[in-house]
Amino acid sequence: MLKKLFNPINIKELELRNRIVMTAMHLNYTPDSRVNDRLVAFYEERARGGAGLIIVGGCTTDEYSGPTTWMLSMRDDSVIEGHSILAAAIKKHGAAAACQLYHAGRYAHSISIEGRQARAPSAIASRFTKEEPSAMTIEEIKETVQSYADAAVRIKEAGYDIVEVLSCTGYLMNQFLSPVTNLRDDEYGGSWENRLRFPLEVADAVREAVGPDYPVMFRITGHDFMEGGNTNKEHSLYAAELEKQGVDCINVTGGWHETRVPQLPMSVPRGGLAWLAVGVKSKVNIPVVACNRINDVFVADEVLRLGMGDLVGMARALIADPYLPQKASEERYEEITHCIGCNQGCFDHVFYLQPVTCTLNPRAGRELELVPEPAEKPKRVAVVGGGPAGMKAALTAARRGHVVTIFEKDDMLGGQLNLAAVPPGREEFWTAVEDLDAQLDHAGVEVRLEEEATAALLKEEGYDAVVVATGARQAVPNIPGIDLPHVLMAWDVLEGREDPEGEDIVIIGGGAVGSETGMYIASIGTISGDTLFYLLMNKGEDAESLKQLCSQGIKKVTVVEMLDKVCRDVGISTRWGILQDMRNLGIDMRKNAVAKRIEEDGVVVMIEGEEEKIPADNVIIAVGACPAGELYEELKQADMEAYLVGDAKEARKAIEAIQEAYEVGLKI
Ligand SMILES: Cc1cc2nc3c(=O)[nH]c(=O)nc-3n(C[C@H](O)[C@H](O)[C@H](O)COP(=O)(O)O)c2cc1C
Repeated sequence: MLKKLFNPINIKELELRNRIVMTAMHLNYTPDSRVNDRLVAFYEERARGGAGLIIVGGCTTDEYSGPTTWMLSMRDDSVIEGHSILAAAIKKHGAAAACQLYHAGRYAHSISIEGRQARAPSAIASRFTKEEPSAMTIEEIKETVQSYADAAVRIKEAGYDIVEVLSCTGYLMNQFLSPVTNLRDDEYGGSWENRLRFPLEVADAVREAVGPDYPVMFRITGHDFMEGGNTNKEHSLYAAELEKQGVDCINVTGGWHETRVPQLPMSVPRGGLAWLAVGVKSKVNIPVVACNRINDVFVADEVLRLGMGDLVGMARALIADPYLPQKASEERYEEITHCIGCNQGCFDHVFYLQPVTCTLNPRAGRELELVPEPAEKPKRVAVVGGGPAGMKAALTAARRGHVVTIFEKDDMLGGQLNLAAVPPGREEFWTAVEDLDAQLDHAGVEVRLEEEATAALLKEEGYDAVVVATGARQAVPNIPGIDLPHVLMAWDVLEGREDPEGEDIVIIGGGAVGSETGMYIASIGTISGDTLFYLLMNKGEDAESLKQLCSQGIKKVTVVEMLDKVCRDVGISTRWGILQDMRNLGIDMRKNAVAKRIEEDGVVVMIEGEEEKIPADNVIIAVGACPAGELYEELKQADMEAYLVGDAKEARKAIEAIQEAYEVGLKI
């Protein structure tokens, strides 16, 4: 069924066994910036899993280029030995190994580079760091070019097959290329030719340093998505210049850290940035990698089949499932765990300076520590609750050889993931449910839907162990008017059990659930992507009207939040996009607003000491959840082996619930 994904391809003389490239990821596993066992184990697992090319890094090139701790270093010869162990571990399993060179320019926080002022083409502060860099002198530019060349030699010496130079995401090279961040009036600024000079000098110096036969890749931004910045047109021309300079492969991602066009959350359509590679491919004759949100082998194969790219980048997809390539090559598609772009364990962790892991793969980054062993003595295990924690515990226990039955009182598995998937742009949560469902089936777990497991039943059926994953119930605030008939609970609305029939909707609670319920309601009456395409292609409406049709529904939504931040519990890498979507959908966000009472036609809130009534035909409650794990105590009293996991223990994010469930599944 897959036509091209597993066809070998050459980058220069190097043959890759397939077209799957694990693109570079800074993982935060290396406190002293040196390769360690944890890092090796992470990459070795991905190499064993069948990726064609694994790109390690980014690695800093000098003391200004990026964090001097936690980020991998290629700054001096002392790091070569560690990297040679890593490169060998990857290559041992048949994958090719590349290593990426990174220089952040004005995106380096001074605190991360030991108090130094960041260096950039011009002294323009970034929205990302909010700090002003110094404009590089000609001497500093030459030093920087040399540091790339020196670091490239180390990569070669360490035994990697390819050196990749990062020239994307708004980092140093993009800053030279862009008229927004390069205001120089010397030979490195002004005209397009001058702005090209720095990256081309690096390409030249790297080629010179590694010799004519060693493969060199550049990772470029296919479009800055920055006002006044470079578009796909300029970046495609840039790629052509790199090819002339002797670069052997172009890896195309998109955007800058400062852009307001999301590139990573689940709201980006699958393969939604592959078109950037198309522009690049039209200008070069060397292999091109298409990237971003290619989380599925069929999407990947389509990108290749349609000629949009010659290879596909899969970064998070291989965090979520290191064995995705192997499973696909053996047509074991139903066993694949797809990355859903939730970013909770990867991007959010990097931004919070924590090691990268994965909501759906708790082993990611803990390969040495969490090793599933066959159960010493297979047990009959009951898992009560078919939400994400229950499903993960059941799957883990079953894969270890236990005989597992999962009880779910609803008519479907998935729990709160099914609710999380309802708002626009959040549909990938269903993928997580589908994957777990298919894997439970594959692992032979018995699923008993619409069945409430009581302590008596569990005792009577004689289970050896019970995992209580009964989730949470919605919290009901004690405010006057809560019992009025137009008051609904958020989960009931998301589940479709209750419909807010009125026009003015007030949501009490501006956390993730309240905000996303708001997005769902505000999008009622907007047009679909297909309708948009049809209207656009047939010139049915002008651009401004189309935007309105996409964003203005039939209900007016106000979200009332008592804290000073809406979506406080949403991770940093997703939150800004959700807030942007909420603004686009016209949702009124009222912060520092305490709901005092609900009346028949509105909600009275206290804002800055003043009472105000917000009109409401329906009021929706989204003020959090409380654990519903009472069964656990009953089982303990009945002297049964019992484990309490997920929201039933403490209401929190899916990543924590799944992690805990996985560890219990390993322990039983
Ligand atoms: C935790 C994390 C760290 C990343 N660090 C880098 C990096 O150092 N260099 C780079 O070129 N891209 C980096 N990326 C971007 C990825 O290589 C990739 O382009 C991005 O995740 C989109 O592709 P995906 O949808 O396949 O994950 C990082 C991504 C993640 C999730």
